[in-house]
Amino acid sequence: MKRKWFVVYVAAVLCYFSASGDAWAFSSFRFAVLSDPHLSVAGPDSPANGVKMFKDSAALLQSAINEINREKNIDFVLVLGDLTKDAEPWNVDRFKEVMDELRMPYYLILGNHDISPIDTSVRKKSPGVTRATMIWTFQGHGYQGPAENWSLDPVPGVHLVGLDSVMTGDWGGRLSDKAIAFLDRDLYANQGKLTIIMLHHQLQPYTRAEETGENDFNKFVLYNAGEVKELLSHYPQVVMTLSGHRHLSTRYKLENSIAYFTCPSTVTWPMRYVVFSVDDSAITYATHDVPAASEVWEQARTNAFNVKITQWPRTSETPDTPEGNRRLAKIMKAEDQKDGQIPLVRVMAASM
Ligand SMILES: [Fe+2]
Ligand SMILES: [Fe+2]
Repeated sequence: MKRKWFVVYVAAVLCYFSASGDAWAFSSFRFAVLSDPHLSVAGPDSPANGVKMFKDSAALLQSAINEINREKNIDFVLVLGDLTKDAEPWNVDRFKEVMDELRMPYYLILGNHDISPIDTSVRKKSPGVTRATMIWTFQGHGYQGPAENWSLDPVPGVHLVGLDSVMTGDWGGRLSDKAIAFLDRDLYANQGKLTIIMLHHQLQPYTRAEETGENDFNKFVLYNAGEVKELLSHYPQVVMTLSGHRHLSTRYKLENSIAYFTCPSTVTWPMRYVVFSVDDSAITYATHDVPAASEVWEQARTNAFNVKITQWPRTSETPDTPEGNRRLAKIMKAEDQKDGQIPLVRVMAASM
């Protein structure tokens, strides 16, 4: 009798591991995520440092790239858009020069500051490059031909999807019907691969103002986020999405076991980047400060708070009072979510 139960137990264990094994078709991997570098070539005519530290933006990106090159075992690097100040051709060139110093492949998507016109309500903006110029400039970094939405396998068994959520002339974002059809087809064709999705605009609100729309903060969340999340819920291989745009330190929300991340900007306090490690049981992440001189850090912090209540990053929730400033610092830094670990529940569920 005892022997019979032992055999049943061993069979159950073998069955579990062979079933799980179907889903773990990748080896452990690591990748770094940069967002919103808003690169502006430093010079006499470059804009002053504000909430975005434009004059230091190239040095901050360079500093992050140097740190990532020093890190061990980073398989690839992702950049989540707003690569340049406002799509100026000289800033596109400089951004690419800095990025090309990486010792590992990098893949990117565009943000609302990378496609002209940036804002149709503002006259006399410097002319910037078009979406097509950006796509052709960054061939091999996600883009493979003229399509603005792309996918590839950065390491065997892992699938990466880059989506273009930018609407010319509007800093809010939407995935077009064409992008959604691409996403649906692509996920259908790549089932079984652990899948990461990148898009500049968030699929979740992380603060109250993004839900109420105060100060236009609803524009941080994709206009058709609900439709996209509904689609993703049908594909159990999707474990995480990565967005920028908001310039807040790393945080995520779990919905239907998908981790919806927003990632920090290298150019807005607290200037940070993220390193993710993924193995067959969990996604682990660590957020790092971009190394910079103490004066740069001090100025970045001062600038983030030196705005009116109607200006980003403030809202009525964070007025210019000691309590409001404490709350703003807490929202921007999210120290409790700086590092974290998320079990790969979705892949396990898919393998059962
Ligand atoms: Fe940005
Ligand atoms: Fe943006």
